[in-house]
Amino acid sequence: GKAKGKPAKGLRFTPVEPNTDDKVTVPKGYEQNIVIRWGEPILRGAPDFDPEKQSAKAQEGQFGYNNDFLSLLPLSEKEGGSRRQLLVANHEYTDEVLMFAGYDADDPTREQAEIGWAAHGLSVVVVEGEKGSGALRAVPRHRLNRRVTGTTPFEVTGPAAGSKWLRTSADPDGTTVLGTLNNCSGGTTPWGTTLHGEENVDQYFANTEKVKDDEHRKRLERYALKGTDTERKWERFDDRFDVTKEPYEPHRFGWVVELDPYDPDSKPRKRTALGRFKHEGAQPRLTSDGRAVVYMGDDERFEYLYKFVSSKRMRRGDSRSDHEHNMTLLDHGTLYVAKLTGDSPEDDIDGSGELPSDDHEFDGRGKWIPLATGDESHVEGMTAEEVYVFTRIAGDKAGATKMDRPEDVEPSPRTGRVYAALTNNTDRGASGKAGPDEANPRKGNKHGHVLEFAEHGDDPAARRFTWRLFLVCGDPEDPDTYFGGFPKDQVSPISCPDNVAFDDFGNLWISTDDAQLGFHDGLFGVATSGPRRGEVRQFLTMPNAAETCGPIVQDRRVLVAVQHPGEEDGASVEKPASQWPDGPDAYVRPSVVSVWRKDGGDIGV
Ligand code: FEO
Ligand code: CA
Ligand code: CA
Ligand code: CA
Repeated sequence: GKAKGKPAKGLRFTPVEPNTDDKVTVPKGYEQNIVIRWGEPILRGAPDFDPEKQSAKAQEGQFGYNNDFLSLLPLSEKEGGSRRQLLVANHEYTDEVLMFAGYDADDPTREQAEIGWAAHGLSVVVVEGEKGSGALRAVPRHRLNRRVTGTTPFEVTGPAAGSKWLRTSADPDGTTVLGTLNNCSGGTTPWGTTLHGEENVDQYFANTEKVKDDEHRKRLERYALKGTDTERKWERFDDRFDVTKEPYEPHRFGWVVELDPYDPDSKPRKRTALGRFKHEGAQPRLTSDGRAVVYMGDDERFEYLYKFVSSKRMRRGDSRSDHEHNMTLLDHGTLYVAKLTGDSPEDDIDGSGELPSDDHEFDGRGKWIPLATGDESHVEGMTAEEVYVFTRIAGDKAGATKMDRPEDVEPSPRTGRVYAALTNNTDRGASGKAGPDEANPRKGNKHGHVLEFAEHGDDPAARRFTWRLFLVCGDPEDPDTYFGGFPKDQVSPISCPDNVAFDDFGNLWISTDDAQLGFHDGLFGVATSGPRRGEVRQFLTMPNAAETCGPIVQDRRVLVAVQHPGEEDGASVEKPASQWPDGPDAYVRPSVVSVWRKDGGDIGV
């Protein structure tokens, strides 16, 4: 039947209709502006963006490519007051064909490779709100602005720092890595730092096929490295991208990195205690006694969900020593992997039976299996160092549950329940692959789903949890979908959930990546509690071929990263598949967008 009354507070806007327009479409009564685009100068001395005159040096001082995760941090009165905030952005990867006119993929130049290194990484940039609107603009040359790139020195910390598995000819100590790559989603810590997940790093390393040592090659393959040449051919310009020359360099990527964005001179860290895999994101919360708990997804088909629980407690003070203490929280603790079990009859989950409905939930129990605590391994046949460096193999041995591509995982700050986006897995149930199970119930899962966890006793450090399916995405008219029990004829269609975030009301906001319903990607809000639980409402849509990333929902502003607009097979600078954001005579550029209510009111109220 029809749901009565109003949508949940925070979601009271007119949902945007699914569409294929080459623009960001926002609800009626809302307005938008571009906060910052790829190539805009942020550091002192960086030149204005000139796509015909790019250089690595220029890019090192400019906003990077393919913005993904976003964090907005408060600034003190001294650093700019109430209208200014500190924006931190991930730059996941580069699209050379859309960056360089006349790009020759078979014969890239050294300069193009070096621009690519500089366009990866992170940006820190002060942003300022416009008086009387929600528009937000970058403040170039602010002393806090910073670029971290594919060549910035990182300190390796935690129990695998210095491990033999991390040593290379350039770094015989295994403690300093140049650069961060493929930073997808991330998190903002309660102690004022940001976390960034290094995800699909396999694509940067050449010649796995030529590795003669079977054991080493198999380990690389377990991390999806394969073949000979890479797409960008960086191996031609730096030996570390060739595994026949630097066999262990790939082990130095695939970590969660932590940045102190308030200190532009601080050395960013790679936190080995959080394990090595295709890290999507890392959103921490605290236990009641102040220990940090970080939930993490490994985004590949049939990979696992993880959590880390620190052994030390966060200090609340803001002295130098409190800060230094908090900067060690993620180096000491226990890494766990998730095993989920269900209790529905077999015929529900063979792909032909029914999916969850109002009176028939898909739910079950689960446990967090410890893999390692500090220097102590809990996995038979593996040292602790091996558990951290080859975490996927540890998960295999522990019998963890193979999931449908775990993306972002975030705890609700209101209820403590944890939400995991499983974006899709078209191989589920394919021959030779794992079949459906209750937590991943669809064969050939094209549209993905969202799981909801409740930790035992609401303790984030608990070893046991219960779970249930919250959303089974797709066309609501498709019987194989489920929207938390909400009437399906009253929800926006949603496909391929990826990044997630919460607003202050406790609504879950979900951005999509490569949605499979014939419409562009978008951003959606959904109530997780109350009578409107499961009512998915679309807030905005993306330009051609763009993925929605980094949503942040503040009282009066929604911030999104428009990632890889125009990225289509065969597209190029000369033949762009999108004209966003600046029209037909300009390069298509990944950019951050701010959205607000024209009348100055709160979002969705
Ligand atoms: Fe980079 Fe898993 O999305
Ligand atoms: Ca992406
Ligand atoms: Ca993602
Ligand atoms: Ca994705």
